[in-house]
Amino acid sequence: MFTQPHLDLPPLLSASGSVSLPGSKSISNRVLLLAALSEGQTWVHDLLDSDDTQVMLNALEQLGCQLIKKEHSVCITGLGGSLKNTSELTVFLGNAGTAMRPLCAALSLLGANVTLTGVQRMYERPIKDLVQALEQIGARIEYLQEPGFPPLKLQRSTIKISAPIEVRGDVSSQFLTALLLALPLSSQDSDIQIQVLGELISKPYIEITLNLLAQFGVQVKREGWSTFTIAKGSKYTSPGEIHVESDASSASYFIAAGALSAGSEVLKITGLGEHSIQGDIRFVDAARRMGANITMGPNHLEIKANQRQLRGIDLDCNHIPDAAMTLVMMALFAEGPTLLRNIGSWRVKETDRISAMVKECEKLGAQVEEGPDWIRIQPIKATQWQSASIHTYDDHRMAMCFSLAAFNPSARTIRIEDPRCVGKTFPNYFETLFKLVQTQGDVIPVICIDGPTASGKGTLASEVAKRLGFHYLDSGALYRLSAFMATESGIALELTNEKAIVDLVSKLSLRFEGSSIFANGREISQLIRSEVVGMNASRVSAMPLLRGALIDLQRSFKCLPGLVADGRDMASVIFPSSQLKIYLTADALTRAKRRHKQLISMGISANMDSLYADLKARDERDMSRTVAPLKPAADALLMDNSDLSIEQSLEWVLNCWQSKNIA
Ligand code: DC
Repeated sequence: MFTQPHLDLPPLLSASGSVSLPGSKSISNRVLLLAALSEGQTWVHDLLDSDDTQVMLNALEQLGCQLIKKEHSVCITGLGGSLKNTSELTVFLGNAGTAMRPLCAALSLLGANVTLTGVQRMYERPIKDLVQALEQIGARIEYLQEPGFPPLKLQRSTIKISAPIEVRGDVSSQFLTALLLALPLSSQDSDIQIQVLGELISKPYIEITLNLLAQFGVQVKREGWSTFTIAKGSKYTSPGEIHVESDASSASYFIAAGALSAGSEVLKITGLGEHSIQGDIRFVDAARRMGANITMGPNHLEIKANQRQLRGIDLDCNHIPDAAMTLVMMALFAEGPTLLRNIGSWRVKETDRISAMVKECEKLGAQVEEGPDWIRIQPIKATQWQSASIHTYDDHRMAMCFSLAAFNPSARTIRIEDPRCVGKTFPNYFETLFKLVQTQGDVIPVICIDGPTASGKGTLASEVAKRLGFHYLDSGALYRLSAFMATESGIALELTNEKAIVDLVSKLSLRFEGSSIFANGREISQLIRSEVVGMNASRVSAMPLLRGALIDLQRSFKCLPGLVADGRDMASVIFPSSQLKIYLTADALTRAKRRHKQLISMGISANMDSLYADLKARDERDMSRTVAPLKPAADALLMDNSDLSIEQSLEWVLNCWQSKNIA
């Protein structure tokens, strides 16, 4: 699969506007499992759509649950306490701890013969404490590689609960969550008691578990944080439908972005507020202690900008393990050092987050110290931030946290490696951020690619855009659609009709979605690709009024994180200060062959001889016309790709770009 190697974030100034965030991962995966264990249907609304929920959904489907998906909702027909699929299964759970731990417990109690696998990092995340707890009641679980770690093979066995079940609470609260979610399955004969050994960490996640169990009809009595009792005869009862609130950990990045903003901007987050059941909502208190100006409503948060006033804090972060990573980023901007304590669980998350944080913060110019379960951060002076390429360790939170470094006052570009790892919990994180931020000056990068027709510039430009995660402007398509719509309206493409054509085009409602173009709601992407429309486009593109009328539209494509613009005057008129300008050529015969192949592949019949003649005529006309003639911009790099594959041309352009940017 195509992966985006990195994303360069230009210096950001502020974040403002309103945003609604995707559903909470912790709630989503718990609710999915509870719905699967209940009888009948449960509609889950606002479900998070991410890697971790996807593996859970796949697993439930494999286990025999029926799923119906509708936009942001999914309807699950539960198992009602017994397995529908009793055959031997292998279930892949990626790197989702919120799937591995609860499924291990639930499937052991359901008597499944199942192997639970995942990615390599999952095999480094401990599960022994949970397995030992389940073994106490007769579960048979085999470690297939390292003792104490997944992958696991569960074998059907007789479950017998006679004494309190003991589980350690000081490595991961997910072990206790897994038991709490699963044990009601075995509560027919007597109360079930769970005894937590050691100090329970991440208590707010247990509160989410208890809250959701209650919504599914299971009451758990707790004495302090050490004894939990599930009443005899507990039964999961579907609430019919349930809404997932926005993810509070994801909100932490936007709270921080609001707080790190310069100026007096306000950022509003909806879908989450003071009634949240998520522990990470307490990040708000921590951010306030650092000086963030946050107002909380029942279902929204508002953050006022105050970059210059943050101060360092000393905080026990046991209650907000995930969101506390965001405090590290805020600490880099604060006055005075910050000490975050009681964060030992970071070491067994998607990566060893304490050492990853230290290493990457140092790249930015910070002094950071670590202990077994703490981290101390010295802020970076306003002028001393470094550009850095941030390694993200396949950890979504590393990528999201370090995007905040782009607010640095030294105006340094920050490179995020493997930015798509945010897919674990927030696939559109960067797109969401980009819609809210303003940059420090005119720093949005633009790459212009031009060349004669059929030089392959379109293919190359869109590939470059994909690889860099940039937007793509196919300016030729604007002339094509102008010609197409004018012809359809019966306007002859004569210079004397120029004004009528401009009138028509400026009244069009245009929408660009990826490679699809809609005019007045109708998709015209394919219709404008014919040779005839190409020839007509060449005619209207020589009309100065039309060219002028399209300037603002073309410039509006310049959005974060950057733009690749393809077409005639991109490098000279539309984006004259673009950072990289490429003029692509290939000999006429090669281009005619390429066009021939392209047309045939689109099912459009074509004759090679007439294509070659048309193409030479078009070159001639495009080069000799007075309005925007075809010629390389003065500062363009020339590239003849007659003998190069697309992949080779792509590498060439990416290398040029790389050499102009941070390493
Ligand atoms: O790249 P293309 O074949 O889709 O472009 C259609 C016509 O529009 C072609 O004759 C070149 C012209 N054009 C232009 O004059 N200015 C642009 N920025 C893009 C295309």
